[in-house]
Amino acid sequence: LSGRQRIPVRLGERSYEVVVGPGAAGELASVLAGRARRAAVVTQEAVGVEVDPGVEGRRFLVPDGEAAKSLATLEGLCRRFAAWGLTRADAVVAVGGGVVSDLAGFAAAVYHRGTPWVAVPTTLLAQVDAAVGGKTGVDLPEGKNLVGAFWQPAAVLCDTDVLASLPEREWRCGLGEVAKYSLMGDQDLVGLATEECVARCVRVKAAVVEADEREGLGARAGRTVLNYGHTLAHALEAVGFDPSSGLDLRHGEAVAIGLVFAARLARRLGRVGDAEVQRHLGVVGALGLPTALPPGVGAQELVSRMQGDKKATDGLSFVLKGPRGLELVRGVDPAVVEATLAEMGTA
Ligand SMILES: NC(=O)c1ccc[n+]([C@@H]2O[C@H](COP(=O)([O-])OP(=O)(O)OC[C@H]3O[C@@H](n4cnc5c(N)ncnc54)[C@H](O)[C@@H]3O)[C@@H](O)[C@H]2O)c1
Repeated sequence: LSGRQRIPVRLGERSYEVVVGPGAAGELASVLAGRARRAAVVTQEAVGVEVDPGVEGRRFLVPDGEAAKSLATLEGLCRRFAAWGLTRADAVVAVGGGVVSDLAGFAAAVYHRGTPWVAVPTTLLAQVDAAVGGKTGVDLPEGKNLVGAFWQPAAVLCDTDVLASLPEREWRCGLGEVAKYSLMGDQDLVGLATEECVARCVRVKAAVVEADEREGLGARAGRTVLNYGHTLAHALEAVGFDPSSGLDLRHGEAVAIGLVFAARLARRLGRVGDAEVQRHLGVVGALGLPTALPPGVGAQELVSRMQGDKKATDGLSFVLKGPRGLELVRGVDPAVVEATLAEMGTA
């Protein structure tokens, strides 16, 4: 009756609901009732979203930015949990964007070998993607998300009201993932009202996660299709990790470039035609997201970064479109990748 959409993620005993709509964060107390004695609310100062856990709670602030997704922050957080006496009869509540849900979700996964957690995602990116599906983790200086766990939340509350305070750039970053869901299939999600857009993205993600909870690296792409556009995106983000690179690229912006690259690479490999490249350029460009590589990033450096990607079990691997839809394509010739990058304006 609340007018909110309730999307099930069916994973046997790890099943949960994603609630999407205005005021969804208000359901936190009922989610925790009977499930948790106390709630450790992990958030950032800049998030500015208050939640009522309905049980004894304490706020644990973590620093802002991707740099906070580190083993050092994780250790500090777990030590503060321990000092407060958090147990597995309690719950961790992540209130924030993808940085908070990845970090707090991973803390929940490892604290006392597994503590329940609830996600209250407060960025568009976290609502459509990061908070759903149970992938949690932190970065290493060597690369993003290299240490983590699959640890499903008990519920995800996507409160579309809290998105009102989101800075313009963060909004656009979320649209990068919305573009991914649009381009993965043939839905046009871009022009929809926010609640409907979030709900449709969550439905796509839920279906993929249900079919392949732990990203099996079998013949079928399974959950890896969610990494559409992400192989190059992660390499670009890794370059930007080094402050001397001068690269200022957020995750969603890197994904936008990665999506265009994936279409161009698929065309070069004869898997799709020009129309698919044009569709990618159209969707990404219409959202005001970048479609070309930033200046000064070398093709060779990107290729070597991509060879270090977690999915690169057999040479360079990419999720690409083709006659049979999205597939994980292994062993792509580095020269073809470099040529495609050159087409996108690298140094
Ligand atoms: N686990 C997954 O499946 C998955 C999927 C996609 C992305 N991610 C991860 O998500 C992270 C990026 O997430 P993000 O884009 O949400 O970034 P983020 O968490 O850094 O949030 C962006 C900024 O917005 C602020 N903020 C958050 N909510 C706000 C609100 N309602 N109003 C005003 N400001 C607010 C934050 O404090 C931060 O400064 C990356 O680390 C990425 O690897 C994970």
